[in-house]
Amino acid sequence: MCGIIGYTGPLPANGILLDGLKRLEYRGYDSAGMAVMDGSRMKVVKRAGRVGLLEDLVGGLMGHVGIAHTRWATHGGVTDANAHPHTSCDGMIAIVHNGILENSEELREELIGRGHRFTSETDSEIIAHVLEEELKGVEKEELVAALLRTVRRLEGSFAFLAISPLLGDVILAARKDSPMVVGVLPDAKIPASDVLSFLKWTDDAYFMENESVALMTPVDIEAWLFDGTPLDVRPVKVAVEVKGEYGGGDVHHTLKEIREQPMAVRRALEQDGELLSELAGLMREADRVYAVGAGTSYHAALVARYMFAGIAGLEVQPVLASEHRLFSGWIGDGSLVMAISQSGETADVLEAVRVAKARGAKIVAIVNMPRSSLERMSHASVNIRAGPEVGVAATKSFTAQLAVLAALAYHVAGRPIDLDGERVGSLIEDVLAQEGSIERMVEGIKDGRDVYLVGRGMHYPIALEGALKMKELAYIHAEGMAAGELKHGTLALIEGGTPVILLNPSDDTYKETLSNGEEMKARGAFIMGISDRSSDLYDVHIELPRTRGYETPMVEVVPLQLMAYYTALLRGAEIDKPRNLAKSVTVK
Ligand code: AGP
Repeated sequence: MCGIIGYTGPLPANGILLDGLKRLEYRGYDSAGMAVMDGSRMKVVKRAGRVGLLEDLVGGLMGHVGIAHTRWATHGGVTDANAHPHTSCDGMIAIVHNGILENSEELREELIGRGHRFTSETDSEIIAHVLEEELKGVEKEELVAALLRTVRRLEGSFAFLAISPLLGDVILAARKDSPMVVGVLPDAKIPASDVLSFLKWTDDAYFMENESVALMTPVDIEAWLFDGTPLDVRPVKVAVEVKGEYGGGDVHHTLKEIREQPMAVRRALEQDGELLSELAGLMREADRVYAVGAGTSYHAALVARYMFAGIAGLEVQPVLASEHRLFSGWIGDGSLVMAISQSGETADVLEAVRVAKARGAKIVAIVNMPRSSLERMSHASVNIRAGPEVGVAATKSFTAQLAVLAALAYHVAGRPIDLDGERVGSLIEDVLAQEGSIERMVEGIKDGRDVYLVGRGMHYPIALEGALKMKELAYIHAEGMAAGELKHGTLALIEGGTPVILLNPSDDTYKETLSNGEEMKARGAFIMGISDRSSDLYDVHIELPRTRGYETPMVEVVPLQLMAYYTALLRGAEIDKPRNLAKSVTVK
């Protein structure tokens, strides 16, 4: 997945594009570039490396029309040549692209056969050459037809922007399965991958329909479906949540967002009761309910299984989005799929939902970013209201997901929601108050090769989530596992000094998990106990506040997030933008 942004309006484009790229960098950051037009001249600057590298290079790019890109490499290595924008043979068209073209090889051969010369290894460059062919000799009023012919030749996922001295202050845009939203001002347009990149200029946004094209000038925007049907372009106000302050101060986004969790959980529990009742009704009517997600959102799906079973006696089958083929044989028109996704743009989740919908399933989306592709594909959706989460590692969105899932389970059970947002928020604050001791504690694991996180019952998916945080933030191999599984193999790996994080709140899993801890201690493990009860078993003890029922997962994950964060800090890791990762994985 990559970040793309354009600008056409009265102001110099380069500063606006650079600022937008910085807000899009979480989507990919191995190379970046910009094309800006100054009258009849267009200049392109692009480099491997972070957006920051562009800062010194784009100051001289004059002009009020431009496009820019920050890349997460899929086709072709991280090189200057493979950075976007890409240009046509005659250098008169520049494009930036987010997505994957599935017919890029055959198109490349076809185009080379007609004399086109490529300068990169990327699939994206194809678009510049196809546009070059389709725009050749076209009058302005024929622009849309040429753009429609272009998109009909492309297969796969794409969101692209194109500019050319031939087009003046026009930006061409197209999207299929990759996100594109346009910031709308009376005298300027800012098309981009997400709203965060233009929020400082406008909160009026036009979310492009899937499989549509748009033609925009500073004062106008028109759009059509790929079949040529004109669309009614109606900008909407971006939800207040997304306008929330983000960044600021000298802390990483990730730490800021960990600290925002008391507020995030409180807001997540402030939901429209009628909406939750409607969703609960759909779930009760379904003959099978699935919870689909990827990464952290999949871990929320795993916790959901315990919540719906314990609260409502309802079986919810968690399915990894990328493994959706597993369930597609079971999906029918009586099925309901709860699709859980912070971004609402995860390609694996969108694909799983597409398959489920085609088989007649009802789709309920649990999302954070408003008006995402997933939300617009679903029969009903609920927003977790966590506000913008910029750190690549999901933190507050996870606890907010759990809050909404628990509230939904109570609605399915027809019971009052036995969760108090204020109380859960203050329990999380109790954990946050231990930040300093947790920072000191991780000294013991920062140089470790492996960390084991062990939990039982719904603490098992929390162990998985804690392991994921440790991997993606601190770059330490971490394994989350079910406590009861230790003696079935993994215990063989436990030896003197092996760091083990034992999730052991004093609930019905306490005694058995404690004895699992004894088994590991007997083999020399270094036990970090996370519990509301102390024990001689623990070499270090992170004290949880006393929690009850389904509050626990939202509270016990916070020390794991802090341990991963501070371990990463001690190891000098990137934190907000971990290597090789991106916030929204919009490619399969
Ligand atoms: C979690 O910290 C990661 N950022 C990643 O696993 C993420 O949860 C996953 O890519 C799913 O993203 P989504 O919730 O936006 O669908």
